[in-house]
Amino acid sequence: MFDGDGMLHAVTVSGGRATFCSRFVKTYKYNLEKEVGSPVILNVFSAFNGLPASLAWCSVAFASFLLRQYDPRRGVGAANTSLALISGKLFALGESDLPYRVEIRADGDIVTIGRHEAFGEPYMTMTAHPKMDAETSEVFTFRHSIKAPYLSFFRINAEGIKQPEIPIASLNEASLVHDFAITRNYAVFPDPQIVIKPAEIVRGQAPLGIDAAKVPRLGIVRRCAESDGEMWWVDVPGFNMMHAVNAWEEDGGDTVVVVASNVQPVEHVLDRVDLVHSSMVRVEINVRDESVRRRGVAAGNLDFAVINPAYVGKKNRYVYAAIGAPMPKIGGVVKIDLSLSTKDSGDCTVARRIYAPGCYGGEPFFVAKEPDNPAAAAEDDGYLVTYLHDENSEESKFIVMDAKSPNLDVIAAVKLPGRVPYGFHGIFVPHNTNS
Ligand SMILES: [Fe+2]
Repeated sequence: MFDGDGMLHAVTVSGGRATFCSRFVKTYKYNLEKEVGSPVILNVFSAFNGLPASLAWCSVAFASFLLRQYDPRRGVGAANTSLALISGKLFALGESDLPYRVEIRADGDIVTIGRHEAFGEPYMTMTAHPKMDAETSEVFTFRHSIKAPYLSFFRINAEGIKQPEIPIASLNEASLVHDFAITRNYAVFPDPQIVIKPAEIVRGQAPLGIDAAKVPRLGIVRRCAESDGEMWWVDVPGFNMMHAVNAWEEDGGDTVVVVASNVQPVEHVLDRVDLVHSSMVRVEINVRDESVRRRGVAAGNLDFAVINPAYVGKKNRYVYAAIGAPMPKIGGVVKIDLSLSTKDSGDCTVARRIYAPGCYGGEPFFVAKEPDNPAAAAEDDGYLVTYLHDENSEESKFIVMDAKSPNLDVIAAVKLPGRVPYGFHGIFVPHNTNS
Protein backbone atom coordinates (compact mmCIF):
# COMPACT_ATOMS: atom_id res chain seq x y z
CA MET A 1 0.00 0.00 0.00
CA PHE A 2 2.84 2.44 0.80
CA ASP A 3 5.17 1.56 -2.08
CA GLY A 4 3.27 2.45 -5.28
CA ASP A 5 4.57 5.04 -7.70
CA GLY A 6 3.17 8.48 -6.94
CA MET A 7 0.29 9.55 -9.16
CA LEU A 8 -1.10 13.06 -8.93
CA HIS A 9 -4.77 13.76 -9.64
CA ALA A 10 -5.64 17.40 -10.25
CA VAL A 11 -8.91 19.19 -10.81
CA THR A 12 -8.26 22.67 -12.18
CA VAL A 13 -11.20 25.03 -11.85
CA SER A 14 -11.00 28.09 -14.06
CA GLY A 15 -13.49 30.24 -15.96
CA GLY A 16 -16.41 28.08 -14.86
CA ARG A 17 -14.83 24.89 -16.23
CA ALA A 18 -13.23 21.98 -14.39
CA THR A 19 -10.34 20.11 -16.02
CA PHE A 20 -9.18 16.75 -14.66
CA CYS A 21 -5.70 15.29 -15.09
CA SER A 22 -3.91 12.23 -13.67
CA ARG A 23 -0.15 11.80 -14.13
CA PHE A 24 2.54 9.67 -12.54
CA VAL A 25 5.30 11.69 -10.91
CA LYS A 26 8.27 11.05 -13.22
CA THR A 27 10.70 10.14 -10.45
CA TYR A 28 14.12 8.61 -11.10
CA LYS A 29 12.61 5.30 -9.92
CA TYR A 30 9.62 5.60 -12.26
CA ASN A 31 11.73 6.51 -15.31
CA LEU A 32 14.41 3.89 -14.62
CA GLU A 33 11.97 1.03 -14.10
CA LYS A 34 10.00 2.05 -17.17
CA GLU A 35 13.20 2.03 -19.24
CA VAL A 36 14.40 -1.31 -17.85
CA GLY A 37 10.91 -2.80 -18.03
CA SER A 38 10.87 -4.27 -14.53
CA PRO A 39 11.19 -3.24 -10.87
CA VAL A 40 14.75 -2.32 -9.91
CA ILE A 41 14.64 -0.23 -6.74
CA LEU A 42 13.86 -1.83 -3.40
CA ASN A 43 10.42 -1.08 -1.98
CA VAL A 44 10.86 -0.26 1.70
CA PHE A 45 7.54 -1.71 2.86
CA SER A 46 7.04 -4.73 0.59
CA ALA A 47 10.49 -5.93 -0.53
CA PHE A 48 11.45 -7.63 2.72
CA ASN A 49 8.76 -10.26 3.10
CA GLY A 50 10.83 -13.24 4.18
CA LEU A 51 14.45 -14.14 3.42
CA PRO A 52 13.97 -15.44 -0.18
CA ALA A 53 12.09 -12.30 -1.23
CA SER A 54 14.63 -10.04 0.48
CA LEU A 55 17.56 -11.81 -1.20
CA ALA A 56 15.84 -11.66 -4.59
CA TRP A 57 15.18 -7.93 -4.27
CA CYS A 58 18.71 -7.18 -3.06
CA SER A 59 20.16 -9.26 -5.92
CA VAL A 60 18.13 -7.36 -8.51
CA ALA A 61 19.15 -3.99 -7.07
CA PHE A 62 22.82 -4.97 -6.78
CA ALA A 63 22.93 -6.44 -10.31
CA SER A 64 21.38 -3.24 -11.66
CA PHE A 65 23.99 -1.23 -9.78
CA LEU A 66 26.81 -3.37 -11.26
CA LEU A 67 25.32 -2.98 -14.73
CA ARG A 68 25.32 0.78 -14.11
CA GLN A 69 21.58 0.88 -14.71
CA TYR A 70 20.94 2.10 -11.19
CA ASP A 71 22.63 5.08 -9.49
CA PRO A 72 21.49 5.14 -5.82
CA ARG A 73 22.67 8.74 -5.45
CA ARG A 74 19.69 9.82 -7.54
CA GLY A 75 17.17 8.61 -4.98
CA VAL A 76 14.81 5.74 -4.42
CA GLY A 77 11.53 7.50 -3.67
CA ALA A 78 8.14 7.30 -5.34
CA ALA A 79 6.94 10.84 -4.41
CA ASN A 80 3.65 9.20 -3.44
CA THR A 81 2.72 10.70 -0.08
CA SER A 82 1.98 14.40 -0.08
CA LEU A 83 2.24 17.78 -1.78
CA ALA A 84 3.65 21.08 -0.53
CA LEU A 85 3.89 24.62 -1.78
CA ILE A 86 7.31 26.02 -0.86
CA SER A 87 8.22 29.54 -1.90
CA GLY A 88 5.60 29.44 -4.64
CA LYS A 89 6.82 26.15 -6.07
CA LEU A 90 4.80 22.93 -5.93
CA PHE A 91 6.42 19.70 -4.78
CA ALA A 92 5.40 16.03 -4.67
CA LEU A 93 6.89 14.39 -1.60
CA GLY A 94 7.69 10.98 -0.17
CA GLU A 95 9.82 10.66 2.96
CA SER A 96 12.28 8.16 1.43
CA ASP A 97 13.63 10.74 -1.02
CA LEU A 98 14.00 14.47 -1.67
CA PRO A 99 10.93 16.33 -2.99
CA TYR A 100 10.15 16.32 -6.70
CA ARG A 101 9.17 19.65 -8.22
CA VAL A 102 5.99 19.51 -10.30
CA GLU A 103 3.91 22.11 -12.10
CA ILE A 104 0.27 22.40 -13.03
CA ARG A 105 0.09 24.07 -16.40
CA ALA A 106 -2.60 26.53 -17.50
CA ASP A 107 -4.38 23.76 -19.44
CA GLY A 108 -4.52 21.59 -16.28
CA ASP A 109 -1.71 19.22 -17.27
CA ILE A 110 0.72 18.05 -14.56
CA VAL A 111 4.42 18.12 -15.44
CA THR A 112 7.33 16.76 -13.39
CA ILE A 113 10.25 19.20 -13.36
CA GLY A 114 12.62 16.95 -11.40
CA ARG A 115 14.21 15.96 -8.09
CA HIS A 116 14.90 19.10 -6.07
CA GLU A 117 18.48 18.54 -4.94
CA ALA A 118 18.76 22.06 -3.50
CA PHE A 119 17.02 20.65 -0.38
CA GLY A 120 19.70 18.01 0.23
CA GLU A 121 22.56 15.97 -1.10
CA PRO A 122 22.84 12.55 -2.77
CA TYR A 123 21.21 9.81 -0.63
CA MET A 124 19.30 12.39 1.42
CA THR A 125 15.57 12.46 2.12
CA MET A 126 12.99 14.96 3.37
CA THR A 127 9.73 14.53 5.22
CA ALA A 128 6.46 14.53 3.29
CA HIS A 129 5.01 16.91 5.91
CA PRO A 130 6.93 20.21 5.98
CA LYS A 131 5.19 23.07 7.81
CA MET A 132 4.82 26.60 6.48
CA ASP A 133 4.40 29.58 8.79
CA ALA A 134 1.82 31.62 6.87
CA GLU A 135 3.04 34.88 8.46
CA THR A 136 6.71 34.55 7.51
CA SER A 137 6.39 32.13 4.54
CA GLU A 138 9.28 30.16 6.11
CA VAL A 139 9.02 26.40 5.81
CA PHE A 140 10.23 24.14 8.62
CA THR A 141 11.12 20.60 7.74
CA PHE A 142 13.33 17.63 8.61
CA ARG A 143 14.81 14.45 7.32
CA HIS A 144 15.36 11.13 9.04
CA SER A 145 18.06 8.63 8.31
CA ILE A 146 18.96 5.01 9.05
CA LYS A 147 22.32 6.19 10.39
CA ALA A 148 23.24 8.92 12.89
CA PRO A 149 22.18 11.63 13.04
CA TYR A 150 18.83 9.88 12.78
CA LEU A 151 16.98 13.18 12.56
CA SER A 152 17.99 16.56 11.15
CA PHE A 153 15.89 19.71 11.39
CA PHE A 154 16.14 22.63 9.01
CA ARG A 155 14.40 25.70 7.67
CA ILE A 156 13.77 26.87 4.13
CA ASN A 157 13.52 30.65 3.99
CA ALA A 158 10.79 32.60 2.22
CA GLU A 159 12.92 32.71 -0.92
CA GLY A 160 13.11 28.90 -1.00
CA ILE A 161 16.75 28.73 0.13
CA LYS A 162 17.63 25.86 2.47
CA GLN A 163 19.28 26.96 5.73
CA PRO A 164 21.89 25.02 7.79
CA GLU A 165 20.75 21.73 9.31
CA ILE A 166 20.43 21.00 13.04
CA PRO A 167 21.43 17.35 13.61
CA ILE A 168 19.34 15.93 16.49
CA ALA A 169 21.98 13.92 18.33
CA SER A 170 19.69 13.22 21.30
CA LEU A 171 17.63 10.78 19.19
CA ASN A 172 19.67 7.63 19.68
CA GLU A 173 17.94 5.27 17.24
CA ALA A 174 16.12 5.52 13.93
CA SER A 175 12.37 5.93 14.43
CA LEU A 176 9.62 6.45 11.90
CA VAL A 177 9.13 10.19 12.36
CA HIS A 178 6.43 10.76 9.75
CA ASP A 179 5.24 14.19 10.84
CA PHE A 180 5.95 16.95 13.35
CA ALA A 181 4.45 20.27 14.45
CA ILE A 182 5.57 23.85 14.88
CA THR A 183 4.46 26.67 17.17
CA ARG A 184 5.53 30.31 17.06
CA ASN A 185 8.77 29.42 18.85
CA TYR A 186 9.17 25.64 18.88
CA ALA A 187 9.29 22.51 16.75
CA VAL A 188 7.82 19.34 18.30
CA PHE A 189 8.98 15.91 17.13
CA PRO A 190 7.55 12.47 17.98
CA ASP A 191 9.74 9.49 18.86
CA PRO A 192 7.26 6.62 18.41
CA GLN A 193 7.51 2.90 19.02
CA ILE A 194 7.92 2.32 15.26
CA VAL A 195 11.66 1.84 14.81
CA ILE A 196 13.91 1.33 11.78
CA LYS A 197 16.49 -1.45 12.02
CA PRO A 198 18.27 -2.04 8.67
CA ALA A 199 20.09 -5.06 10.15
CA GLU A 200 16.76 -6.92 10.10
CA ILE A 201 17.04 -7.10 6.29
CA VAL A 202 19.76 -9.76 6.52
CA ARG A 203 17.28 -11.87 8.51
CA GLY A 204 14.71 -11.44 5.75
CA GLN A 205 12.61 -9.11 7.87
CA ALA A 206 11.30 -5.64 7.09
CA PRO A 207 13.54 -2.88 8.46
CA LEU A 208 10.49 -1.24 10.05
CA GLY A 209 9.28 -2.82 13.27
CA ILE A 210 7.68 -2.16 16.63
CA ASP A 211 9.59 -1.82 19.90
CA ALA A 212 6.83 -2.57 22.39
CA ALA A 213 9.13 -1.89 25.36
CA LYS A 214 9.92 1.64 24.24
CA VAL A 215 8.07 4.60 25.81
CA PRO A 216 7.00 7.07 23.10
CA ARG A 217 8.33 10.61 23.56
CA LEU A 218 7.94 14.12 22.24
CA GLY A 219 11.01 16.27 21.65
CA ILE A 220 10.86 20.07 21.84
CA VAL A 221 13.44 22.38 20.30
CA ARG A 222 13.34 26.09 19.55
CA ARG A 223 12.66 26.47 15.88
CA CYS A 224 15.42 29.07 15.56
CA ALA A 225 17.92 26.83 17.42
CA GLU A 226 21.44 26.63 16.02
CA SER A 227 22.14 23.27 17.66
CA ASP A 228 20.10 20.57 19.39
CA GLY A 229 21.81 21.32 22.71
CA GLU A 230 18.68 22.90 24.08
CA MET A 231 16.33 20.13 22.86
CA TRP A 232 14.44 18.27 25.58
CA TRP A 233 12.23 15.20 25.51
CA VAL A 234 9.19 14.20 27.53
CA ASP A 235 7.78 10.69 27.87
CA VAL A 236 4.19 10.36 26.67
CA PRO A 237 3.27 6.71 27.34
CA GLY A 238 0.86 5.24 24.82
CA PHE A 239 1.12 8.20 22.44
CA ASN A 240 2.29 7.18 18.97
CA MET A 241 1.80 10.23 16.82
CA MET A 242 1.73 9.58 13.09
CA HIS A 243 0.08 12.82 11.93
CA ALA A 244 0.22 16.13 13.76
CA VAL A 245 -2.79 18.39 13.20
CA ASN A 246 -1.46 21.63 14.71
CA ALA A 247 0.40 23.05 17.70
CA TRP A 248 0.60 26.40 19.46
CA GLU A 249 1.65 28.07 22.70
CA GLU A 250 -0.60 29.09 25.61
CA ASP A 251 -0.11 30.65 29.07
CA GLY A 252 2.33 33.22 27.73
CA GLY A 253 4.47 30.52 26.19
CA ASP A 254 4.60 28.27 29.27
CA THR A 255 2.43 25.56 27.64
CA VAL A 256 2.86 23.93 24.26
CA VAL A 257 -0.36 22.36 22.95
CA VAL A 258 -0.19 19.66 20.28
CA VAL A 259 -3.29 18.27 18.54
CA ALA A 260 -2.59 14.99 16.77
CA SER A 261 -3.91 11.55 15.93
CA ASN A 262 -2.72 8.70 18.14
CA VAL A 263 -2.63 5.27 16.47
CA GLN A 264 -3.61 2.18 18.46
CA PRO A 265 -2.57 -0.58 18.47
CA VAL A 266 0.70 0.57 16.99
CA GLU A 267 1.58 -3.04 16.10
CA HIS A 268 -0.84 -2.94 13.16
CA VAL A 269 0.24 0.36 11.60
CA LEU A 270 2.66 -1.40 9.26
CA ASP A 271 0.68 -4.46 8.25
CA ARG A 272 -3.05 -4.21 9.09
CA VAL A 273 -4.02 -0.56 8.96
CA ASP A 274 -7.68 -1.69 8.87
CA LEU A 275 -7.28 -2.78 12.51
CA VAL A 276 -5.84 0.57 13.62
CA HIS A 277 -7.94 3.07 15.57
CA SER A 278 -6.71 6.67 15.40
CA SER A 279 -7.86 8.91 18.24
CA MET A 280 -7.78 12.69 18.01
CA VAL A 281 -6.05 13.99 21.13
CA ARG A 282 -4.78 17.22 22.69
CA VAL A 283 -1.42 17.01 24.45
CA GLU A 284 -0.31 19.83 26.77
CA ILE A 285 3.37 20.13 27.62
CA ASN A 286 4.41 22.47 30.42
CA VAL A 287 7.61 24.11 29.27
CA ARG A 288 8.63 25.03 32.85
CA ASP A 289 8.23 21.73 34.70
CA GLU A 290 8.13 19.46 31.62
CA SER A 291 4.92 17.79 32.78
CA VAL A 292 2.46 16.40 30.23
CA ARG A 293 -1.34 16.16 30.17
CA ARG A 294 -3.41 14.49 27.48
CA ARG A 295 -7.11 14.24 26.65
CA GLY A 296 -9.26 13.15 23.74
CA VAL A 297 -11.10 15.78 21.72
CA ALA A 298 -13.34 13.60 19.56
CA ALA A 299 -14.78 10.11 19.39
CA GLY A 300 -14.26 7.93 16.37
CA ASN A 301 -11.48 6.59 14.20
CA LEU A 302 -10.07 9.85 12.83
CA ASP A 303 -6.96 10.67 10.82
CA PHE A 304 -5.86 12.74 7.79
CA ALA A 305 -6.96 15.86 9.65
CA VAL A 306 -6.54 19.36 8.24
CA ILE A 307 -7.02 22.96 9.39
CA ASN A 308 -7.21 26.36 7.75
CA PRO A 309 -3.54 26.65 6.65
CA ALA A 310 -3.35 30.27 7.84
CA TYR A 311 -3.36 28.87 11.43
CA VAL A 312 -0.36 26.52 11.22
CA GLY A 313 1.61 27.06 14.45
CA LYS A 314 -1.10 29.32 15.92
CA LYS A 315 -4.02 28.57 18.21
CA ASN A 316 -6.91 27.41 16.04
CA ARG A 317 -10.46 26.32 16.68
CA TYR A 318 -11.54 23.96 13.91
CA VAL A 319 -10.17 20.61 12.78
CA TYR A 320 -11.59 18.59 9.88
CA ALA A 321 -10.75 14.88 10.01
CA ALA A 322 -11.43 11.84 7.85
CA ILE A 323 -13.41 8.96 9.36
CA GLY A 324 -11.76 5.55 8.97
CA ALA A 325 -14.27 3.05 7.63
CA PRO A 326 -11.89 1.37 8.47
CA MET A 327 -8.66 2.90 7.12
CA PRO A 328 -7.44 3.08 4.44
CA LYS A 329 -11.04 3.66 3.33
CA ILE A 330 -12.59 6.94 4.43
CA GLY A 331 -16.33 6.90 5.09
CA GLY A 332 -16.92 10.56 5.89
CA VAL A 333 -15.57 13.70 7.50
CA VAL A 334 -16.09 15.43 10.85
CA LYS A 335 -15.60 18.99 12.03
CA ILE A 336 -14.19 19.34 15.55
CA ASP A 337 -14.44 22.53 17.62
CA LEU A 338 -11.37 22.61 19.87
CA SER A 339 -12.75 25.56 21.84
CA LEU A 340 -15.20 23.09 23.44
CA SER A 341 -12.37 20.95 24.81
CA THR A 342 -11.96 21.18 28.58
CA LYS A 343 -10.63 18.66 31.07
CA ASP A 344 -14.17 17.36 31.54
CA SER A 345 -15.39 17.59 27.96
CA GLY A 346 -15.94 14.60 25.72
CA ASP A 347 -16.57 14.55 22.02
CA CYS A 348 -16.10 18.03 20.51
CA THR A 349 -17.46 17.06 17.08
CA VAL A 350 -19.85 19.76 15.85
CA ALA A 351 -20.57 18.65 12.27
CA ARG A 352 -20.39 15.43 10.34
CA ARG A 353 -20.92 14.16 6.80
CA ILE A 354 -21.16 10.43 6.25
CA TYR A 355 -20.81 9.38 2.62
CA ALA A 356 -23.43 7.11 1.00
CA PRO A 357 -23.02 3.32 1.44
CA GLY A 358 -20.18 2.08 -0.78
CA CYS A 359 -18.74 5.59 -1.21
CA TYR A 360 -15.31 6.39 0.16
CA GLY A 361 -13.36 9.64 0.09
CA GLY A 362 -9.83 10.92 0.29
CA GLU A 363 -8.25 13.34 2.73
CA PRO A 364 -10.47 16.41 3.08
CA PHE A 365 -8.64 19.61 2.31
CA PHE A 366 -9.68 23.02 3.64
CA VAL A 367 -9.78 25.89 1.14
CA ALA A 368 -10.43 29.34 2.58
CA LYS A 369 -13.15 31.35 0.84
CA GLU A 370 -10.46 33.90 0.01
CA PRO A 371 -7.46 31.60 -0.61
CA ASP A 372 -5.10 34.51 -1.30
CA ASN A 373 -5.97 35.96 2.10
CA PRO A 374 -7.13 32.99 4.22
CA ALA A 375 -7.08 34.94 7.50
CA ALA A 376 -9.46 37.60 6.16
CA ALA A 377 -12.66 35.83 7.23
CA ALA A 378 -13.77 33.50 10.03
CA GLU A 379 -11.51 30.48 10.49
CA ASP A 380 -14.10 28.07 9.07
CA ASP A 381 -15.31 30.35 6.28
CA GLY A 382 -14.38 28.13 3.37
CA TYR A 383 -14.76 24.75 1.73
CA LEU A 384 -13.71 21.18 2.24
CA VAL A 385 -12.74 19.46 -1.00
CA THR A 386 -12.05 15.79 -1.62
CA TYR A 387 -12.32 12.95 -4.10
CA LEU A 388 -15.13 10.47 -3.65
CA HIS A 389 -15.39 7.03 -5.23
CA ASP A 390 -18.61 5.01 -5.46
CA GLU A 391 -17.75 1.30 -5.41
CA ASN A 392 -21.29 0.41 -6.60
CA SER A 393 -21.34 2.55 -9.74
CA GLU A 394 -17.54 2.69 -10.18
CA GLU A 395 -17.82 6.47 -10.55
CA SER A 396 -15.45 9.01 -9.03
CA LYS A 397 -16.34 12.59 -8.14
CA PHE A 398 -14.62 15.70 -6.90
CA ILE A 399 -16.84 17.24 -4.23
CA VAL A 400 -16.95 20.61 -2.48
CA MET A 401 -18.47 20.89 1.01
CA ASP A 402 -19.40 24.07 2.87
CA ALA A 403 -17.14 23.96 5.94
CA LYS A 404 -19.38 26.36 7.88
CA SER A 405 -22.63 24.48 7.36
CA PRO A 406 -24.01 22.28 10.19
CA ASN A 407 -23.95 19.13 8.03
CA LEU A 408 -20.94 19.94 5.84
CA ASP A 409 -23.30 20.25 2.89
CA VAL A 410 -22.05 19.22 -0.54
CA ILE A 411 -22.48 22.38 -2.62
CA ALA A 412 -20.74 21.29 -5.81
CA ALA A 413 -19.63 18.04 -7.43
CA VAL A 414 -17.71 17.22 -10.59
CA LYS A 415 -18.16 13.76 -12.11
CA LEU A 416 -14.72 12.56 -13.19
CA PRO A 417 -13.94 10.63 -16.38
CA GLY A 418 -11.73 8.12 -14.55
CA ARG A 419 -11.18 6.46 -11.20
CA VAL A 420 -9.19 8.27 -8.54
CA PRO A 421 -7.70 5.53 -6.33
CA TYR A 422 -7.79 5.96 -2.56
CA GLY A 423 -4.67 7.92 -1.67
CA PHE A 424 -2.87 9.88 0.99
CA HIS A 425 -2.56 13.67 1.10
CA GLY A 426 -3.57 16.59 -1.14
CA ILE A 427 -3.24 20.35 -1.48
CA PHE A 428 -5.10 23.35 -2.87
CA VAL A 429 -2.98 25.48 -5.19
CA PRO A 430 -4.05 29.07 -5.92
CA HIS A 431 -4.50 29.87 -9.59
CA ASN A 432 -1.49 32.17 -9.83
CA THR A 433 1.02 29.51 -8.75
CA ASN A 434 3.36 28.43 -11.59
CA SER A 435 1.95 31.12 -13.83
FE1 LIG B 1 1.14 11.41 6.06
